[in-house]
Amino acid sequence: MGRACRLGVALAVAWFAGAAGGAFLSVAAGASPPARPGMNPNPVRLVRPPAAPLSAMARLGRRVFFDPTLSASGRLSCASCHSPAHAYGPPGALPAMFGGPRLTRQGVRAVPSLMYLDRQPNFSIGPDNAETEGVNLRRAAGRGQHAPRAHKSARAPTAAAANLVPQGGLFWDGRADTLQAQAIGPLRSPFEMDGGSDARLAALLARAPYAGRMRALFGTAIFATPRLAVAEALFAVARYQIEDPAFHPYTSKFDFWLEGKARFTPAELRGYRAFNDPAKGNCAGCHLDRPTPDGRPPLFTDHQFEALGVPRNPALRVNRDPHYFDLGLCGPYRADLAAETGYCGLFLTPSLRNVATRHVFFHNGVYHHLRQVLDFYDFRDVAPGRVYPRAPDGTVAIADDLPARYRGNLDRQDPPFGGTHGARAPMSAADERDIIAFLRTLTDGYRSRGPGR
Ligand code: HEC
Ligand code: HEC
Repeated sequence: MGRACRLGVALAVAWFAGAAGGAFLSVAAGASPPARPGMNPNPVRLVRPPAAPLSAMARLGRRVFFDPTLSASGRLSCASCHSPAHAYGPPGALPAMFGGPRLTRQGVRAVPSLMYLDRQPNFSIGPDNAETEGVNLRRAAGRGQHAPRAHKSARAPTAAAANLVPQGGLFWDGRADTLQAQAIGPLRSPFEMDGGSDARLAALLARAPYAGRMRALFGTAIFATPRLAVAEALFAVARYQIEDPAFHPYTSKFDFWLEGKARFTPAELRGYRAFNDPAKGNCAGCHLDRPTPDGRPPLFTDHQFEALGVPRNPALRVNRDPHYFDLGLCGPYRADLAAETGYCGLFLTPSLRNVATRHVFFHNGVYHHLRQVLDFYDFRDVAPGRVYPRAPDGTVAIADDLPARYRGNLDRQDPPFGGTHGARAPMSAADERDIIAFLRTLTDGYRSRGPGR
């Protein structure tokens, strides 16, 4: 039996024991007091990506990533919005960043973190990529919207993996598949870098201090074909994001806790339990928190799309138009699924790694504090008046960022949602505080002090 295989078996046994009440699910459920308080009673060995020096291609990509001269303003690089000091997410609390030639055009969505995207699957509709690859997306969508769907429970998080649902891809609506295909978006977008035509961008690349590196890697004639020059530069940026361990270090306190090298505080441990408790947060039903069977650290997303119905954000300039709606999967920024109205309002579930370093939450950046996010999950269905504004007629404007005809798409079946109006909230204020304490353990750069200390 190979090593990888043995590890797989060991983990599978741990999962099984977990389901039966042992392993770290006992911690989650609080079944028996662990021998050493705050320590993972069943440490696992995590398989992190092997570290290797960056290739010449990735080193070129790093220079492009930090190069502001490619933007119309001359002041925006990828790193301006995806700040390395902020988990490659937005540097401040603006709901969307400003771009364009004079940095006056506000974006339409919150800037996502670029971390942990190396394991993001391609966009598909169905239980796995193999089935829908090459298959007509529209047909899959038609099937998917009528298929029964397993509930997402933190207790059996893999049951939902077989759902015929949209999953994967990059951007909040999954419209790009590869990091390379993705990068041309912001580079050209009028409210982002606004870099202009291939001809303009290639001319800038040809004058960049790294132009010599490009000639060495892609041939001396590279700048003669502008489209190719831009594509190669973006390929290099993608390599940088894939190769540099800074984009996927797995050095959070939670990773070390999984390995038995860090001790949870009582609040973190309670938060971890509530995060996994189907009767409380049920967060792990979608933000998966167990290592994969082959030992890779959890990503805190199931890569699926959901319509949570977060409130409309009046701070976004596009929202001044009352007829404008960001409908995620069904548009306006992707067009191929526009006819699939069952997908209107669905957005990609983001990873929660490093989420505590953010100051803007959800696709429209409507919230600035984790406490507001937790209140949203807690009260959306049982006390919507605490989440949504009032309509002019005095009623609560439930799911006010989704046209009424699409509100049936809201996820009401997966806890913590689904409570009836006026019922007790699934999480107490203390539960919310504890879950936030747990979310803070997902920030990379924790210094493990070794086992037992
Ligand atoms: C003006 C701010 C801004 C700049 C500059 C910018 N981006 Fe982004 N980026 C965004 C926003 C906003 C999104 C989300 C857009 C959406 O979902 O439609 C995004 C999404 C992404 C994503 C998808 C992330 C995910 O979780 O799906 C990647 C990858 C990315 N950007 C890489 C880059 C690269 C590479 C550059 C430089 C070529 C760049 N970005 C420049 C704002 C920016
Ligand atoms: C049914 C699946 C589901 C469940 C259960 C769930 N989430 Fe989410 N989560 C999502 C989706 C989808 C989004 C993005 C929604 C959007 O932006 O419109 C999201 C976004 C978030 C964000 C914002 C992240 C960012 O980068 O902006 C946080 C924080 C978060 N969830 C925490 C939690 C916590 C804590 C719980 C448990 C109380 C939880 N989630 C339960 C699906 C889920």
